[in-house]
Amino acid sequence: MCGIVGYIGHREAYPIILKGLKRLEYRGYDSAGVALYDGNTINLCKTKGKVEALETKVKTQIATKGTIGIGHTRWATHGVPNDTNSHPHVSNSGNLVIIHNGIIENYESLKKELIKRGYNFASDTDTEVLVNLIEDVQKNQNTKLGKAVQIALNQVIGAYAIAVFDKKKPNEIVTAKLGSPLAIGIGDNEFFIASDASPFIEYTNNAIYLEDEEMAIIRRGKDIKIRKIKNDSIVAPYIQQLQINLEQIEKGGYDHFMLKEIYEQPNAILDTFRGRLLSKDAIIKMAGIEDNMKKFLNAKRIIIVACGTSWHAGLVSEYTFENLTRTPVEVEYASEFRYRNPVINEDDIVIAISQSGETADTLAAIKLAKAKGAFVFGVCNVVGSSIAREAHAGAYTHAGPEIGVASTKAFTTQITVLTLIALRLARAKGTISSTDFRHHLIELELIPEKVKKALQSDAYIKVVSEIYKDSKNVLYLGRGYNFPVALEGALKLKEISYIHAEGYPAAEMKHGPIALIDENMPIVVIATKKGHYEKVVSNIQEIKSRKGKIIGIVTEGDTSVKDLADHVIEVPETLEPLTPLLTTIPLQLLSYHIAVMLNKNVDQPRNLAKSVTVE
Ligand code: F6R
Repeated sequence: MCGIVGYIGHREAYPIILKGLKRLEYRGYDSAGVALYDGNTINLCKTKGKVEALETKVKTQIATKGTIGIGHTRWATHGVPNDTNSHPHVSNSGNLVIIHNGIIENYESLKKELIKRGYNFASDTDTEVLVNLIEDVQKNQNTKLGKAVQIALNQVIGAYAIAVFDKKKPNEIVTAKLGSPLAIGIGDNEFFIASDASPFIEYTNNAIYLEDEEMAIIRRGKDIKIRKIKNDSIVAPYIQQLQINLEQIEKGGYDHFMLKEIYEQPNAILDTFRGRLLSKDAIIKMAGIEDNMKKFLNAKRIIIVACGTSWHAGLVSEYTFENLTRTPVEVEYASEFRYRNPVINEDDIVIAISQSGETADTLAAIKLAKAKGAFVFGVCNVVGSSIAREAHAGAYTHAGPEIGVASTKAFTTQITVLTLIALRLARAKGTISSTDFRHHLIELELIPEKVKKALQSDAYIKVVSEIYKDSKNVLYLGRGYNFPVALEGALKLKEISYIHAEGYPAAEMKHGPIALIDENMPIVVIATKKGHYEKVVSNIQEIKSRKGKIIGIVTEGDTSVKDLADHVIEVPETLEPLTPLLTTIPLQLLSYHIAVMLNKNVDQPRNLAKSVTVE
C-alpha cells in the first residue's frame, strides 16, 4: 500500500505533487519519489525515508520545472525500502515512467520473460517489471501508450493503481486500477491523479473514482477516456462532487492527527447517528437495513469479519447483537476466515467492518462469503472504498478522514453504527421491549456529551502517563463488553509506543497472566459499575495483593475501586452496551501521551500503514 499522485495541466507540477505526497503519507512512508518532465528530460528523484527527505534531496539534485509529473510514497512490499526500489520506475529505454500502488503477483514469471528478451532490472520491485512489460508491448505491437498499458495489464495478476507517462508523448497520463484506490480530480484544463482526494481537494471538488478493471487516458487540455481493461468497452465518466474540505484533512491545531481524531469523537459519533437515530419518535432509520430487513430477520447467524481495531469493534458488537437480537454471532479475523474453508450458509449474514474499506484480507473474506451465497453487509468509513462497493449493502460510519495510523474515532463510530443496527433489528424481531428500546436511544443520544466529559480527564491521564511511560509491559483487563476494549487499549499502546501490552478478560488473569504481576507491572482495569463490577473488583484485589500497580477506569463517583487502585480515571455512567464508547477514551489518551513522552512518531508508527492492502 502506497500513495500515488500525478498532475497534468498548466501549473508547475512539483509543488502540487509534493504537497499531495505529504497528505498521502498515511498510506506508507518508507520511501518516496517524484518524476517531472521539463520538455526535454524526465527529472527523477527518489529516496529512502519520508517525503521530507525527498524534498531535501530534490532541492540539490533535480530541476523541478514541468507541468506533468508523478510522485509516490511507499510502503514496501517487494524489495527493501531503499532509493533504487523507490518509485517512480523508468523503463529500459528511459521513455516510460510509472508509479504503482499494489502488488503484481506474477511479476517473477513476467520478469524472466523480459530478461530473456534483453531487459535489465535495477530494482527488486514488481513495478519495474510492469513498466518494462508496457514498453515491450509498445515496441513489439507498435501501439499507443494506452493500448500498451491495457495489453500489459491483461497479462498481470494482482492489484494495482498506476499512473504512467511517456516522455515522447508528454501530453498524456494513463492510469488504471484493480484492487487499489484511484481518484482523478478534474480541474479547469488540468487533471490530478491520487490515491484519495486529499492531494487535489484545494483545487477542485470534481472527481472520478475509477472502478476495478478500468483505465483512464487523460489528455492535457482535453478530456478523459475511460475504458474497461478486459474488453476495451468505453465507460461514461461519472463525475462526483466531493463534500470533504481541506480542514477536515489537516491537523486543525492539534500536535498530531491522532489527538485531533480522539477529540473529534463527540462529533464523529454524532455524525454517525445523525439522521438515523430519531429518539423522539423512537425510530432508527438505516436504509441498508430497511432495504434488506427480510434477510436480516431470516438470518440464522451473523459472521463478523475484520482486522485489528475493526475486529475489536466486531467483538464488542458480538455482545450487543447476541444480547439484543438473540441471533448467534461469530467474530472472525478476516485473514483466518478467508483461508480456513469456513462453513458459510446462504442464510448467514456476513458483516465486514473496515475503516479504510481497502483491507485486503477483509475484502477477500467478503468475496469468499459472496461466492458461498451469504449476504454481505459492509461497515466502512471511507466512502466509495473497495469494501463498500463489494458488499451487497452497508452503512458508513461517517467519522470523516482518519489520518493517524492508530485507529481511534473509527473504532467508536463502528461501535455506534453496529449498536444502531443491533437495536433496529432487536426492535424488528421483538427481542427488545419498546421501553428498553427508547431508553437505549435516549442514552445513545447522550453519548457525545459523555465522551466530551471523558475527554476532560486528559490532563490527569497525562500525569498517569508520566508515571508509567517507562514500563516494559502493561496488562489490560476488562469483562463483558469491556473485554474487547481491553484488547483495543493494549493494541493502541503497543502500536504507537512500542511497549509490550496484552489485553485479557479479567477473569482469565488467574489462568496465567497473574504470574507476571509484581510491583513493576501496571495493570489497567476497566471496572465500570455496569456488568460484572463486583467480580472485577475481586480481580483488582487479587492484583493488589501481588503488588501490581492498578489504573482503574471507573464510573463517576466510584469509591470501591478508588480505595484499591493506585489511580482511577472516571467516565460518565451509561447503559452497559454503550460503556465501550466511554471506556475507550482514556485508553486512547493514555497510549497517546506515553508515545509522545517517549518521543515516538505517533501518527506514523514504525512498520505500520493506515490501510493494509496486501495480505
Ligand atoms: C490499529 C489499526 C489497525 C486497523 C486494521 C484494519 O490502530 O488501525 O489494526 O484497524 O488494519 O483496518 P481497516 O479498519 O481499515 O480495515
